[in-house]
Amino acid sequence: MFKKIAISAVTALTLSAGGAMAAGGAGHVEDIDFSFEGPFGTFDQNQLQRGLKVYTEVCSACHGMKYVPIRTLTSENGPGMPADQVRAYAERFEVFDEELDDFRAARPVDHFPESALETAPDLSLMAKARAGFHGPYGTGLAQLFKGMGGPEYIYSLLTGYTGEQKEEAGTIYYENTAFPGGWIAMAPPLYGDDVEFNDGHEATIESQSEDVAAFLMWAAEPTMMARKQAGLTGVIFLTVLTVLLYLTNKRIWAPIKGKKTA
Ligand code: HEC
Repeated sequence: MFKKIAISAVTALTLSAGGAMAAGGAGHVEDIDFSFEGPFGTFDQNQLQRGLKVYTEVCSACHGMKYVPIRTLTSENGPGMPADQVRAYAERFEVFDEELDDFRAARPVDHFPESALETAPDLSLMAKARAGFHGPYGTGLAQLFKGMGGPEYIYSLLTGYTGEQKEEAGTIYYENTAFPGGWIAMAPPLYGDDVEFNDGHEATIESQSEDVAAFLMWAAEPTMMARKQAGLTGVIFLTVLTVLLYLTNKRIWAPIKGKKTA
């Protein structure tokens, strides 16, 4: 009897949760095996360089990254580009120099420009500002197993266009299976072969989306690799300390427990 009630309560919960999803709550987010996932994960330099190219040639037409200094592109734990290449890269952007009271070509010490299109959000921290995975039921278990899913959300957003569009109050909205609510004001930015990669990597919508999502993850958390290393060192240190304390404790109590000390 009790069991039956419990089971029907669970089914009701599951059904209502499913209903909420179908009604256009959170969108569908694909789980991707990024190289930087897990405790030993690291950024893939080639992928970050490809992602930078997608950002530069496609996304930066509308989106800025004003919190990211251009010089960080030389970072060994990031895209790892040579300094002269980064200097040349910076020059494609213009910044306003207060001392000159005029515009000049950007230098590596400058930040990426802000969004060129006012309605396009800044992408500096986007990969950490969005979560791809939630629940179940507020427990956060999905995030424990799959990660927060910020880059997965970006990937799913870029690959989630259905081709449908509608106009509302003068704005065109595009149907997107990942965007909460289902309709986004960003036109599909990728069509495949939008950029040509230097390393000859394929440039499908999916692969370009994966690369730019990885790049945006690095932009949002450039010291992720150092963080993981520090965490791992900490865990090893605590493990050794635990063993030593256990042995010390045994030895201190040995006379009282009537055992011989080793
Ligand atoms: C033609 C201009 C344009 C281009 C190009 C463009 N976007 Fe957007 N993007 C927008 C606008 C406008 C919005 C806001 C849409 C909204 O809130 O409905 C947006 C929103 C977003 C969002 C936030 C979605 C959310 O959850 O709020 C992300 C992430 C994003 N764009 C990523 C990209 C990436 C990555 C690229 C390059 C591959 C790109 N965009 C190219 C105009 C653009």
